[in-house]
Amino acid sequence: MYSLIRSILFRFPTETVHYFSMNCLQLACSVPALRRWITRHFSARRTKPMEAFGLRFKNQVGLAAGFDKNARWLRELEALGFGAVEIGTVTPKAQDGNEKPRLFRLPKDKALINRMGFNNEGVKVVAERLRRWKIAQENVRQHKARLIIGGNIGKNKITPNEEAWKDYETCFRELFDVVDYFVVNVSSPNTPGLRALQEKDALHKILSHLQAINQQQPKPKPLLLKIAPDLTASQIDDVIDLALEVQLDGLVATNTTISRSNLLTNQDELKAIGAGGLSGAPLRERSTEIVQYIHRRSGGNIPVIASGGIFTAEDAKEKLAAGAVLIQVWTGFIYVGPGITRKICSEL
Ligand SMILES: Cc1cc2nc3c(=O)[nH]c(=O)nc-3n(C[C@H](O)[C@H](O)[C@H](O)COP(=O)(O)O)c2cc1C
Repeated sequence: MYSLIRSILFRFPTETVHYFSMNCLQLACSVPALRRWITRHFSARRTKPMEAFGLRFKNQVGLAAGFDKNARWLRELEALGFGAVEIGTVTPKAQDGNEKPRLFRLPKDKALINRMGFNNEGVKVVAERLRRWKIAQENVRQHKARLIIGGNIGKNKITPNEEAWKDYETCFRELFDVVDYFVVNVSSPNTPGLRALQEKDALHKILSHLQAINQQQPKPKPLLLKIAPDLTASQIDDVIDLALEVQLDGLVATNTTISRSNLLTNQDELKAIGAGGLSGAPLRERSTEIVQYIHRRSGGNIPVIASGGIFTAEDAKEKLAAGAVLIQVWTGFIYVGPGITRKICSEL
């Protein structure tokens, strides 16, 4: 059924379809009976709850950052069975992101290329939306397992790298009461210069500063870092050392790649699309390698959330076997459809 719907949706511009589909789902979920039907139909019957970072996830399948940047569709995503949703990347000030078109499908490769550029409504608006969500949840929920919310934070395009730590601090403070864990994003390829912040000294400054603020709170929040799949082994070693030094709670591996190797999509098409981060099936192997590398090098002392090319339960098992504690999907959701969490959870 979804393959038929997908073949129709894939005829229209990618970003338009994203909003259209989610707004339709939102409309459907505004009718309580329909929402209950969607929840019953799409949520896994058998799930394996997971404790990680001191949080209880109702299953191991989360939605990766960038899908619901502004925390608009939490109720709908919960109905589709996700155990966690990572909102963001949010920045202190709202920004439009790059010029459209900026999101492209590569159906032959089961992949996407995006250069969104952290389009978001700004941290204050997003925090306020999350505050309202949280209050509504407290009123309806008594026994049901809660949807875990991750807050993925970044810097504004116009903020120079030397001052990036201030942007991360602003986002951290604004979101502190309304998210369950934080992810520091310095690995998007679509904000010029951002990935230079993955370099040892720059990263140390941002993470140690955030961790210091975090540790002053009565109940600190889990703090994670999201890394790019394009790092060299020695750069990953630096990240691991730093994660241990700053006592990060974990890593998210990985973001999208700037590599274009081994693609079936022809070169002319790729050239016409231009710059951006590649996600989906071609990223699977590299991201698994990185998860495995971190797990081995840290002796399992750094929990990893795996992201990159997960479409099936087999893909998820590969990531868990490599040492991941949780997995996240994004591109797989587009290609497999709304049944993805149920399909994966039922086999884990
Ligand atoms: C359109 C799009 C936007 C994204 N935006 C973000 C973002 O804002 N922040 C972030 O950390 N990752 C972002 N990502 C990366 C995803 O969270 C994920 O790490 C990556 O796509 C790899 O997973 P996948 O192969 O399952 O898609 C984005 C990915 C896509 C496709």
